[in-house]
Amino acid sequence: MDLSTRYLGLDLKHPIIASSTPLSETLDGIRLLEDSGASAIVMFSLFEEQIRRENEAFDFLLESGTESFAESLNYFPHVDRSPKGPEHYLNLISKAVAATEIPIIGSLNGVTNEGWIDYAKQIQDAGAHALELNVYFIPTDLELSPAEVEQRYFDILQAVKASVSIPVAIKLSPFFSAIGNMAKRLAEAGADGLVLFNRFYQPDFDLERLQVDPRASLSTAEEIRLPLLWIAVLYGRINTSLAGSRGVHSATEVIKYLLAGADVVMVASALMKHGPNHLQVLFEGLEQWLEARDYQSLDEVKGVMSRLNAANPGAFERVNYIKVLESFEAPQFPGA
Ligand SMILES: Cc1cc2nc3c(=O)[nH]c(=O)nc-3n(C[C@H](O)[C@H](O)[C@H](O)COP(=O)(O)O)c2cc1C
Repeated sequence: MDLSTRYLGLDLKHPIIASSTPLSETLDGIRLLEDSGASAIVMFSLFEEQIRRENEAFDFLLESGTESFAESLNYFPHVDRSPKGPEHYLNLISKAVAATEIPIIGSLNGVTNEGWIDYAKQIQDAGAHALELNVYFIPTDLELSPAEVEQRYFDILQAVKASVSIPVAIKLSPFFSAIGNMAKRLAEAGADGLVLFNRFYQPDFDLERLQVDPRASLSTAEEIRLPLLWIAVLYGRINTSLAGSRGVHSATEVIKYLLAGADVVMVASALMKHGPNHLQVLFEGLEQWLEARDYQSLDEVKGVMSRLNAANPGAFERVNYIKVLESFEAPQFPGA
């Protein structure tokens, strides 16, 4: 059976990609993801903040005119010496590309189009086969208009596209008033792929300590609904690759994303929970489902349940929402 697919112009053996997680923070982790069957790996992100910190340290050294680098570091207490800094990141990409046979996709995470964008080129020079941009921006400034928020994505994309020749994907937020239009314009602006969707950090409240609780949680399979809807709506209507990202915990979600029209699916939480070997479970489940229905290739299922191919496109629209609400009857409670 032919499970091959194309994503960002890259030929992949099958559609199941390891998403950006700490599992790619070491070369052993990256090798394990490949050995467990990932068809490509999106690296953990290099963050704008990490790059800025390093640049600020560098500027400080230039301005202070210090001759000895090692000595001057002592004067700058905020230098990030963590092993996840930019230099380590680029080295790890080089090593990963040399040590594996699958595409390695670098990941840059930021919100402005200044300074850190240079690292797109450095990630390319380190050998990455493609780049994913995660614009993780929460517009808490109430003066910022929707147009200004959207423009950030275009500015970043354009700056990155101008500096690299490798394909570039954007991990998109679901929080736009017109997601479809945003996706279409990003594709027209040169995005080689869209990853739907970014999973935003949503803090909780700790009622005992009356503090904002910053704990992040892993996803659940229920979370595929929103990306599934938008992949189904976008399939065949914009000229860019589509990645289903969020809520892939079993082969069921893999198959649903493909039927909606995704070229690939990305898995993070399930790998954090069950380990990289879970990729095999997803792969075998997909294969069994296709075999049981005599499909010969992935192309036969891709987009079959998209809005474009649906017997009833209204299933994705308001009319269906009303039907769903009507299908509920009020439960009978004593005294009602
Ligand atoms: C522990 C953890 C770390 C993550 N780190 C990153 C990251 O560095 N960059 C990024 O773009 N996404 C990161 N993500 C988001 C995932 O790549 C993925 O988009 C998201 O978790 C939704 O997929 P899932 O439902 O399979 O978890 C992280 C997710 C988890 C659970």
